[in-house]
Amino acid sequence: MYSRIIGTGSYLPAKLLTNRDLESVVDTTDEWIYSRSGIRERHIAADDENASDLAVAAARKAMQAADVGPEDIGLIVVATTTPDMIFPSTACLVQHKLGIKNCPAFDMQAVCSGFVYALATADKFLRSGACRHALVIGAEIYSRILDWKDRSTCVLFGDGAGAVVLGLSDTPGVLSTHLHADGSYHEVLSVPGCVSRGEIKGHPFVVMEGSAVFKFAVKVLEEVALEALAANGLSPREVDWLIPHQANIRIIQATAKKLGLGMDKVVATVERHANTSAASIPLALDEAVRDGRIRPGNLVLLEGVGGGFTWGAALLRW
Ligand code: UT7
Repeated sequence: MYSRIIGTGSYLPAKLLTNRDLESVVDTTDEWIYSRSGIRERHIAADDENASDLAVAAARKAMQAADVGPEDIGLIVVATTTPDMIFPSTACLVQHKLGIKNCPAFDMQAVCSGFVYALATADKFLRSGACRHALVIGAEIYSRILDWKDRSTCVLFGDGAGAVVLGLSDTPGVLSTHLHADGSYHEVLSVPGCVSRGEIKGHPFVVMEGSAVFKFAVKVLEEVALEALAANGLSPREVDWLIPHQANIRIIQATAKKLGLGMDKVVATVERHANTSAASIPLALDEAVRDGRIRPGNLVLLEGVGGGFTWGAALLRW
């Protein structure tokens, strides 16, 4: 048995924050942000919205598209770095809000690779016979872990959620998944803070060595794409759609170029969403499914890289 994505959904908070708006927040310009990252605007969650609310809105659309109800869901995995609270997990809160009873639910913490990690995990649950349908969600509110005085990070991220329903199938949808991590890079991209004895210990905002992350991302996004294709006896030429993590259009362009893919084969949403971490891949996937770019039979390659470092890919036959 195999697993296959049978429905997608996404949600973006209503509030838009443009590069021009940011010019009055930090010493930056629309020109700098757009030329260095390809970002023009991002969505920002309302004060009363939490990651579970974004996740639920995306999940409802994915469940509707898959034509499944709460009683059908046998597993919930939420990829997030910005959970509602320390515990319970955001996945348990999502389960409750969706009226889903008695299925395993847990969060996946792999930062911007979180959705690929979550999809790989759910795929293994389904293929082992543990359940028939899984909800796999990426949901993030990065606006709450950004230092809005640090221009080198606060202009790069946004909030949002994307979700898929994975169902059992007798033909392969998820062809293979490939996950990696190297914790020796933990200081290059992190939020090095925590709550301890009632106080915030350390620095509770994103810190990043931008150019080191950039170089590492381009290297491993090429490597893991080739690894996924080789595992299935396929070549980059056969990819119909590449959906990479959306952090920087220059990383996306460099990856596509190394793989010999034109940008007409790449789904890019970073201009309008910025970097939504674990939500970026399912947000882009949902957009390309709903606007008809992704069609039955297409070969779709999802790949992410993020703090840890973590990185991974999932190759899908749509
Ligand atoms: O999800 C995975 C996590 N993140 C990423 O994948 C991000 C990876 N890295 C990047 O996307 C890029 O490295 C950045 C967009 C972060 C930066 O682009 P860059 O071309 O590597 O620029 P840089 O770091 O070399 O910065 C150049 C200059 C610096 O000034 P000096 O020292 O050259 O005078 C910065 O102070 O740009 C300055 N700068 C800014 N200027 C205006 C940094 N942030 C800003 C800003 N506005 N917002």
